Amino acid sequence: MDGKRVLIIDDEPQIAGLYREFLAGEGYYVSSCNNGNEAMIQLENEKFDIVLLDIQMPGIDGFTILSRIRDKGIPVVIITAFGTVENAVRALKSGASDFLVKPFSLEDLSLAIKRNIESNGAASEISRLKMIKTILELNRIIVSLTELDLLLDKVLNIVNNIYQPELIAMYIAGEEGENFVLRKYIPIKNKLPEQLPVSFKYTQVGNIFNERKVLVEKEKNCRLTIPLTGTKKEIGFMYIEIPLTKEISEEEIKFLEIFALQVGIGIENAILFDMVRNSYINSIKSLINSLEAKDSYTKGHSEQVAYYSLLIGKEMGIESHNLEVLKNASYLHDLGKLGIKDSILLKPGPLDRDEMEVIRQHPSMTVKILEPLGLKKDEIAVCFHHHERFNGNGYPLGLKGDEIPLLARILAVADAYSAMVSERPYRNAMTEEEAITELKRHSDSQFDRSVVDTFIKILKENKKEVKEDERN
Ligand SMILES: [Fe+2]
Repeated sequence: MDGKRVLIIDDEPQIAGLYREFLAGEGYYVSSCNNGNEAMIQLENEKFDIVLLDIQMPGIDGFTILSRIRDKGIPVVIITAFGTVENAVRALKSGASDFLVKPFSLEDLSLAIKRNIESNGAASEISRLKMIKTILELNRIIVSLTELDLLLDKVLNIVNNIYQPELIAMYIAGEEGENFVLRKYIPIKNKLPEQLPVSFKYTQVGNIFNERKVLVEKEKNCRLTIPLTGTKKEIGFMYIEIPLTKEISEEEIKFLEIFALQVGIGIENAILFDMVRNSYINSIKSLINSLEAKDSYTKGHSEQVAYYSLLIGKEMGIESHNLEVLKNASYLHDLGKLGIKDSILLKPGPLDRDEMEVIRQHPSMTVKILEPLGLKKDEIAVCFHHHERFNGNGYPLGLKGDEIPLLARILAVADAYSAMVSERPYRNAMTEEEAITELKRHSDSQFDRSVVDTFIKILKENKKEVKEDERN
């Protein structure tokens, strides 16, 4: 490949430098630039045999550059990060010749350049290979996601980026398998979510599973129903509406069918993972309950924290899968205290500096116990941050305000209230009114004021209800 001219467009000069050095060693003539404007000037003034283009750059992004060089007939190899392969697919549809997913070896880079210069990116065999490569890369992403909601979000994003439809919805089989329930959707343009049925009976849609093919219906727009199957049974289906003006090719439908096979298996895996995770959480919960039950001061504490957290979470409009995260974190957040001696944990007087340091380790200890069990990242994060303070004076990281995950801010209020209204070895239980005064006094400093206000509103409403019940 002596003398062939390569242009590298990458916003990270170190990476561009590494590729440049390697390719120069292979006998290429290499130029590089760090932004779109510079790239356009170089392309106007010089002739290149191939362009390497990083798709994610600040300023003029890779797609804009691609649209400007498409007409020049130069093969363009896209560089994309793992997890954003849909960008590569979109780029291929916009005229790129090939793509490389980070991390890749310099040998991969060399092969991709040779292949694309030789074929000039036109042969149909290459295009079939690109489809297989895309599918394998997507597979890598799908199997790496073991949380169902994250997986479904990713799938919707992939489909959205590639096909830019008017509407995408994901229906998943209920536990009994009789219904398919709307689990996620992306409403696009003026499509309202209420136009989507919340569920379908199996008998209404069961026939799409017979041939495991995409069902295409064309009326006002093109409607695609894509069956999702696991290793044993029907998992659900994806529903997409694309405007008639956007032609969808046979190849793209084939791609969706193969993609759906992986998504089905991915969903099945994520559901299994959830079952395993839940059984771990249930075992830990019963362990915590029995440990708390041994001590009259802590009996039922985590149960109570979970109850208050959920009241606040629901009132604040937290989504149901995040309420689940909040509930689990409420039970598990103090697990790390298991490793702390009772002489410190139950000390009647104030703690000295060293003892305080030991106490401050418990969120990290909780994380150390939970991480190997494959718990959800968000659950672990809420446990880790439940002693952060709104003004940044908390621990372990001293995060401030919105930097602290909202669920951790909720848990902090529920945890503190539950502790205040319970008796402790070193003080009597506070009354509800006294605890509310404390929460108010520490709003904006220790607690998020909006969480405290919501909680006080709930407590007052509950009290009113109890009084009314008594009167009746
Ligand atoms: Fe704690």
